[in-house]
Amino acid sequence: MPYAHDPVGVLDSGLGGLSVLKALMAELPCERFLYCADCAHTPWGDKSEAFVVERTRAISRFLIDRGAKAVVLACNTATAAAADILRREAAVPVIGIEPAVKPAAAQTRSGVIGVLATRRTTESARYRSLLERFCRGVRVVTVAAPGLMECVERGDLTGPETRRLLEKYLAPILQAGADQLVLGCTHYPFLSGLIAEIAGPGVALLEPGRPVALVTRRRLQDLGLLNAGEPLSPRLTCCVSGAEKHAPILNRMLAGNFTAAEAFAAGEIAELPV
Ligand code: DGL
Repeated sequence: MPYAHDPVGVLDSGLGGLSVLKALMAELPCERFLYCADCAHTPWGDKSEAFVVERTRAISRFLIDRGAKAVVLACNTATAAAADILRREAAVPVIGIEPAVKPAAAQTRSGVIGVLATRRTTESARYRSLLERFCRGVRVVTVAAPGLMECVERGDLTGPETRRLLEKYLAPILQAGADQLVLGCTHYPFLSGLIAEIAGPGVALLEPGRPVALVTRRRLQDLGLLNAGEPLSPRLTCCVSGAEKHAPILNRMLAGNFTAAEAFAAGEIAELPV
């Protein structure tokens, strides 16, 4: 039975979910967060659906065992493969994240939108259903972008290899005349500076962090699970599989996206069972 003072669990295959965590922390200032990055098993986007389901299930259990009152799947790949299954199994609310094709289709003036996501997301039935429901009459250029998340995991957000991959993946989208670009993987907002530079000012980038934070707030509120009292501490606990290798990068990325004080408070980094 979850309580309002319990932490909110957040998971991703790796560090990409930190882009969502940042929005969650801003929108839910009184909550504690437990973030799990499965860095030892990245990328999920190139793995089988069964593998992604198993990892998402194992990490969700880990979070719930540590007292999470809700689980935010800060990963499009995990949501596409496992959200429905977890919602049936878990005793706490499960909030997922999907490529923002609905707002992109509503906002486009050129009638063309681009979507960058992992292969597992772009090939999922859930993604196909999103397009069928929300993108009638709009041309959608979908590009699976293997290799990009690895750039983010390495902390290489602007280097030549990252630029080469982005130029390659964005070319068909830009050639088609897209004016909306959906970042359909939570790692990609970390590349938004370089993406915006390559895409130019005529292309709007859609990031999902804030909408997911708003949905999470509403779900917690509806269930009476929102912490209405004093801010709880520690504000953030991070758990990462493959900790030795990834802890320094995780700390760097937290420092780049949070205040130094919050990064410092991130403190505890534990091993996930692998
Ligand atoms: N960050 C993840 C997503 O939103 C997955 C990246 C990966 O592990 O391939 O899809």
